[in-house]
Amino acid sequence: MKIIVTGGAGFIGSNFIKMILADCSNIQKIVNLDLLTYAGNLANLKDVESDSRYHFIKGDITDYDTVEKIVSADKFDLIVNFAAESHVDRSIYDSRVFVHTNILGTQVLLDAAKRNKVNRFCQVSTDEVYGSLTDKEPSFTEDNPITPSSPYSASKAGADHLCLSYYHTHKLDVVITRCSNNYGPYQFPEKFIPLFISNAMDEKKLPLYGDGKNIRDWIHVLDHAAGVWSACINGKAGEVYNFGGGNEYGNIEIANKIVDILGKDNSLIELVRDRPGHDWRYAMDYTKATSELGWIPKFNFESGLKDTIEWYQENRAWWEEIKSGDYLNYYEKHYGK
Ligand code: NAD
Ligand code: DAU
Repeated sequence: MKIIVTGGAGFIGSNFIKMILADCSNIQKIVNLDLLTYAGNLANLKDVESDSRYHFIKGDITDYDTVEKIVSADKFDLIVNFAAESHVDRSIYDSRVFVHTNILGTQVLLDAAKRNKVNRFCQVSTDEVYGSLTDKEPSFTEDNPITPSSPYSASKAGADHLCLSYYHTHKLDVVITRCSNNYGPYQFPEKFIPLFISNAMDEKKLPLYGDGKNIRDWIHVLDHAAGVWSACINGKAGEVYNFGGGNEYGNIEIANKIVDILGKDNSLIELVRDRPGHDWRYAMDYTKATSELGWIPKFNFESGLKDTIEWYQENRAWWEEIKSGDYLNYYEKHYGK
């Protein structure tokens, strides 16, 4: 198989590339197209950079010419689109780049897939397109209405709608995956779990939004990567597949687990101003992925979290370099005030 992976230098994309290169014997070629924004890091891929099947191209998915040149250069079986602006807090601060990358970028890729007759397009989406659940509501199924709350999730929802429109209008073979909150190695330390682990390791405060009781459903990144791959291989064109870990926890429970595992004092946890529009709860019903794709999450959350914390302890240089950089100024540098 010949595959284009976009956003392959980020957290999930890099775990996905390494997983399929290690586990799938039929991979002839993977082209990783990534702009290397503040979130992209080639250090995530050092284990595969000498693999002759792996090719990295620095480029922007919103750039028509770049995308056309790459997609038309070979006969590709599959495009998997992980590339996105992915952090909800940043989308509240400035949503322009979210709309640009997440919607326009997806449209440019879909058009290139259509023109060049790529066999399948897999859009990596999120549970956040369904909006928020109360404590009593059942988990999201693929039939839930799309009611995103943040500029990030609205941009991902827009991309999902575009993907389905290309399936209906142009008969492009598209599958969409929607997954809950990932954790695991190589997650950028702006996100909740790696931020709290790295701060706690340095005895820094852990800023817990609101009352800390919002609930997320945590899934190990390799379970998500396996889900995306199963949808690419066994999914039906025009279908959406939900993936989740079945691990619903309040944020404060996660914060307490992290300080406990690290042997730190929970006085490091500090309640701070809530995220505007903060979704209360996410939970995924992944029955369809299990029955149609044979997928089931394999990681146990307690041991997965311990291993993840160990990874951050063993790879201090990786996250220290990121945290010492000026990534917080990325938007102003690239898009102006
Ligand atoms: P990430 O922020 O770690 O990585 C995003 C990658 O996309 C980076 O390597 C970045 O350089 C690249 N990128 C950004 N803009 C680009 C552009 N214009 N052209 C080319 N590359 C570009 O994100 P992640 O957490 O790995 O998420 C990957 C995908 O999975 C996203 O689409 C996200 O919406 C989705 N997702 C994430 C989660 C999660 O918990 N992190 C859960 C469900 C779905
Ligand atoms: O659900 C899937 C989504 O999960 C993905 O689509 C997104 O790309 C990914 O970023 C993630 O979104 P969240 O907003 O849920 O993740 P985040 O790590 O930012 O926050 C998780 C929870 O922790 C959320 O309720 C907000 C809270 N939080 C987060 C941060 C960064 C805090 O309390 N303090 C913090 O400093």
